[in-house]
Amino acid sequence: MAGDPAAHAKLATGSGLRIPSHIGVIMDGNGRWAKARGKLRTEGHVEGVRALRNLVELCITYGVDVLTVFSFSSENWTRPKEEVSFIFSLLRRFVASDLQRLIRNNVKVRIIGTRDGLEPSLVRLIEDVEAKTESNSGLTLVVAFNYGGKAEIAEAARHLAREVAAGRLSPDDITEERLANALYTAGLPDPDLIIRTSGEQRISNFLLWQSAYSEFVFVPECWPDFDENSFLRVLESYSARDRRFGGIEAVGS
Ligand code: IPE
Ligand code: IPE
Ligand code: MG
Repeated sequence: MAGDPAAHAKLATGSGLRIPSHIGVIMDGNGRWAKARGKLRTEGHVEGVRALRNLVELCITYGVDVLTVFSFSSENWTRPKEEVSFIFSLLRRFVASDLQRLIRNNVKVRIIGTRDGLEPSLVRLIEDVEAKTESNSGLTLVVAFNYGGKAEIAEAARHLAREVAAGRLSPDDITEERLANALYTAGLPDPDLIIRTSGEQRISNFLLWQSAYSEFVFVPECWPDFDENSFLRVLESYSARDRRFGGIEAVGS
C-alpha cells in the first residue's frame, strides 16, 4: 500500500486542503481535560467519546477513507482497575448507542488489538459490530483497542515463524509485504497523517510499523476539545508538508 502514496492524498474540492486517505489519532488528554475542570477522569473519557463521534462525522464529510483511533493501549492495563473497567464499559456503551448510526452512515468498523484476555462477551460484541458493518463501503473506522504496536509485530513474527516451521513458507519469503499482511491492519493503507492531542509528542506504541512515512501533527488541546476548527488546522498543516518518501521531490503535490 505504501507503494502509491500519491493515491492516498485527494484535494478537498475548492478548499486547497489535501485530504489524507488514512488518518490515525492518538486521542490523548481525557484525564487532564477532566482534572482542569474539577471533574473525575472518567468524565473526561465520556467527553472523549463525544469528540470521537464528532470526528467520525468530520471524516465522512471531508472524504477520509480510513480513520484509526487509539482507544486503549496494551500499556493502559497499568492504570487503576476502576478506570480500566470504565473504559471497557464505554466501548460497550459506544457500540450500543452508535451502532445504528454507524450503519446508517455506511461506516465499516474494524477493531484491532489482541482479543486474548478480553471477556468472551466483549469479544462477541466486537465480532458482531464487525459483521454488521462489514459490507459497508464508506469510511472505515478502525478502533485500536487493547492494542500495542510492538505486540502486533511480535504476533506477526510468530505467525510467519509457524508458517516456516510447517514448511509452508521459506525464510526468504518473509518480505515487508508479507509481514504487513500478517499485521492487524492487513489490507489497509498506511496512515498518511497521525494526530496526537494534549501536547504530548510521542507515539506510545501506536502503529509502529505502519507509521514509517506518516506525517505527524501534535496539537495542544486535550482530546475532548478537539473540534472542527482543530481538524481544519491539522489539515492545513498536513497540506503544507512535502512528503518525499526518501526521494528528492514531493510526492502527490
Ligand atoms: C486518553 O486520555 C485516553 C486513554 C489513554 C484511554 P488519558 O486518559 O491518557 O488522559 P491523560 O493523558 O491522563 O490526560
Ligand atoms: C496513548 O495514550 C494511548 C491512548 C490514547 C489510548 P497514553 O496516555 O496511554 O500514553 P502515555 O502513557 O502518555 O505515553
Ligand atoms: Mg494520556
